[in-house]
Amino acid sequence: MTSSTANRVWIFDTTLRDGEQSPGCSMNLEEKLRVARMLEALKVDIIEAGFPIASNGDFEAVREVAKVVKEARVAGLARCNKADIDRAWEALEPAARPRIHTFISTSPLHMKFKLQLEPEVVHQAIVDNVGYARNLCDDVEFSPEDGSRTEHDFLCRVVESAIKAGATTINIPDTVGYAVPDEFAALIAMLFDRVPNIDKAVISVHCHNDLGLAVANSLAAIDAGARQAECTINGIGERAGNAAMEEIVMALRTRRDAMPYETGVDTTQITRASHLLSAITGFSVQPNKAIVGANAFAHESGIHQDGVLKHAQTYEIMTPESVGLHESTLVMGKHSGRHAFRAKLKELGYGEIGDNQMEDAFRRFKDLADKKKDVYDEDIVALVDDEMLRTKDHIKIVSIQVMCGTEGPQKADVVLDVEGEIRKTSKTGDGPVDAIFQAIKSLCGTQAHLRLFRIDAVTEGTDAQAEVTVRLEEDGKTVNGQGADTDTLVAAARAYVHALNKLLVKREKTAPAAITV
Ligand code: KIV
Ligand code: ZN
Repeated sequence: MTSSTANRVWIFDTTLRDGEQSPGCSMNLEEKLRVARMLEALKVDIIEAGFPIASNGDFEAVREVAKVVKEARVAGLARCNKADIDRAWEALEPAARPRIHTFISTSPLHMKFKLQLEPEVVHQAIVDNVGYARNLCDDVEFSPEDGSRTEHDFLCRVVESAIKAGATTINIPDTVGYAVPDEFAALIAMLFDRVPNIDKAVISVHCHNDLGLAVANSLAAIDAGARQAECTINGIGERAGNAAMEEIVMALRTRRDAMPYETGVDTTQITRASHLLSAITGFSVQPNKAIVGANAFAHESGIHQDGVLKHAQTYEIMTPESVGLHESTLVMGKHSGRHAFRAKLKELGYGEIGDNQMEDAFRRFKDLADKKKDVYDEDIVALVDDEMLRTKDHIKIVSIQVMCGTEGPQKADVVLDVEGEIRKTSKTGDGPVDAIFQAIKSLCGTQAHLRLFRIDAVTEGTDAQAEVTVRLEEDGKTVNGQGADTDTLVAAARAYVHALNKLLVKREKTAPAAITV
């Protein structure tokens, strides 16, 4: 290794696999592809796209991501058995740079109670299956699950054997988020000391955040020699989540003096990636979250504001621009034409938008510019995201009229187009949103339960667009819907209908004959 590659840390993003595994974070294929494109724009090194044997949906997602991604490596997860590995390899077939990531538990607790296998059997499975994977693919990652709670002698033995069998990356997971930084760094250092062929593989870490230490543990491990960090956008993931990609990357970038390592991530895409994921999953980012929280660069106190105005570095350790956070820029007015609009979309990262979606988005932009005095970048993003969600909808809103105020009852008149059939109804409800949702529910005959209803303002001011997220659950399936509009009630209706359309797609996939919209 040259000194520049010696200090390069590979960013392995598992938002689409470990992140997506967490309850409420599931994404459909289109959403996964949008996240994958975003991850390419971020320039992460490896995208773990899913667990192909887990379901047909996962298989298809890995395959489609593998087709779309050009630069990053695309990884598919597989347990340490041939069926899993074959399925992962089949899904990765279109990838320019495929990686098989295979794992098995190695801690005494997991081997005894979860796997009910003797250590020797686990060891042999590693030797056999890492070797099998390596015969298919020249890029193989092996993870001893629950690595941080694995006995050191056994961990050294399986790591050495996995490398001998052909693993090119060894990933040490802190699966249950139990490690603390000094101890985790010592574990990595111990592997470097004791595993004779350790220099033949990249050492990676994968930290969960149960004690809020995932990023600290990852950084400590990097300092001890790890050169790949596994992480997710906004730190989403099982339970308390995974290490947050943006925190690892910005800590390394901001404190190069203390941690002389670099990543290839284009940090100016971080804010956009965070917003996109939050909009897709409905998981909001806490305002005080490092790097991507709404308050991360806000200076409220007079003393801080004064200091920042005199010299930004008095209270700012990184610039907002370095994470892609800009002053809201006034983009265009109602006189702006298609050309300028398309150029703006390209600048905002929507290069791939199709002609029909572009036309629809442009029409909505014109409507918005008529209603709203100032149209900002954020407005365009909300509007285009909303438009891109509505491609093959079975259910469309035709019109909504609402009566609300202090003198109840609140009432909604709703007209929907359900696969070409116009359906109308009026419903009263406990507030206007409830009335709208009741009306939509009765028109579509759904029993879906509302699990989340969230409203965010896209920009400041009373004429701001509202961005609404709705989470619905039906028969154990959960989906998130989004809607944006200057009218909060219309945005709510759009979000509800979007979620219903997603539920229909899920139903279609599981039971094609059961669709009765
Ligand atoms: O947390 C974990 O151990 C994992 C492995 C599959 C790497 O996600
Ligand atoms: Zn994990």
